[in-house]
Amino acid sequence: VSDPVRGGDQAAATLAEAPDFDSYPVLHAIKDASPFPGGVRVLWDDGLECRYHVFWLRENAPDPQTMHPVTREQALQLLDLPDDLEAVAAGTDAAGNLVVGWSTGDESRYHPGWLYAHSHGAGGHFSLPPRKLWDAALQEDLPRFHGPTVLQDESAFTDWAEALHIHGLAILEDLPRTPDVIEYVPARLGPLRTSNFGRVFDVRSRPDADSNAYTDLALPLHCDLTTREYQPGLQFLHCLENESTGGDSFLADGFHIARHLSETAPELFAALTRIPVCFANKARETDHRWEAPMIRLDEDGECEEVRWSPWLRAPVVLSFEETALLYRALRAAFAAAEDPHHRIKVRLRPGELLGFDNRRILHGRSGFNTSSGARWLRGCSVEREELVSRLRIIERSKRGHDTATAGNAD
Ligand SMILES: [Fe+2]
Repeated sequence: VSDPVRGGDQAAATLAEAPDFDSYPVLHAIKDASPFPGGVRVLWDDGLECRYHVFWLRENAPDPQTMHPVTREQALQLLDLPDDLEAVAAGTDAAGNLVVGWSTGDESRYHPGWLYAHSHGAGGHFSLPPRKLWDAALQEDLPRFHGPTVLQDESAFTDWAEALHIHGLAILEDLPRTPDVIEYVPARLGPLRTSNFGRVFDVRSRPDADSNAYTDLALPLHCDLTTREYQPGLQFLHCLENESTGGDSFLADGFHIARHLSETAPELFAALTRIPVCFANKARETDHRWEAPMIRLDEDGECEEVRWSPWLRAPVVLSFEETALLYRALRAAFAAAEDPHHRIKVRLRPGELLGFDNRRILHGRSGFNTSSGARWLRGCSVEREELVSRLRIIERSKRGHDTATAGNAD
């Protein structure tokens, strides 16, 4: 292990702060550190060798001139640093921090847990539980939770939030049958997103319907608000009444359907990831439309979003050949979604709250007959990123617990 940069400074036998509010267990120690032109080379005790760039290190230093001590946001600006900044010394102190001496005369200390977590080749730090794609077998194993417990108990809340991410859907049971539930339960994850249908919308048949949702029609599997640049993430439906004949809900995992298509009809899958479809609403006062392929993949080729609407599409303006390919792909996709092997049927009971990821899970319903009884659902949206933020905070607090436990062990 290298000597400390300033050998006399043994007062710094505590771990440096991290330049954020997360917790970082110290999983690995620094075996060696040395400056080189443009950076600092560090050898970790698991054999990982990393080169950290001078600007990367310098702007992430946790001292109060670089990082505001209250906000922990960066106070130093990148352009405040000289072009020719160099590390002139590097080593560790008694606490195991990386210590870097700069050509400007400054010195910075870095928490080894934070440094390792942000190291190229170390495997990342911020991963969420992997999604589990599902088909009709989920019917027997629906993620259901006791609503009042989820609202009171942190670990039950975590189970519910994780199910919303992992399976893309979850049901809360035994909630009150009052119209305000839709206001305060989803809000536990984040602020409600308003649309032209309101902050909260009532799904029931009405004579002045401005959407097929507000008729008694059957609805094929679809996503809501596909006509928006940014489709709402999580959708919640709270059942207040469901006495009518029909009116069952259907759900399918759009990411599973996409994977199924990629395996059974790769040419059609590729068309759905490539050819833009114009999703457009039809209304007298608004004209929302958005052009995008129906399936969007992330940089790793994993499904990130489906935009799925059997009935809110403007006519495509494409060559005859592209039109033919797109229609083959659309028909294959819609047929796969409605295939009983892929979808599940859920009859919501009064007091149940169904939540699902509207950019992944497709929802639909059978037609219903209002003369046989009332059907009333209340709905709202919360962005997916609010759930993801909440899950990261849950992971952070688990890491905090691990860090504290490790500290006690010492
Ligand atoms: Fe819908």
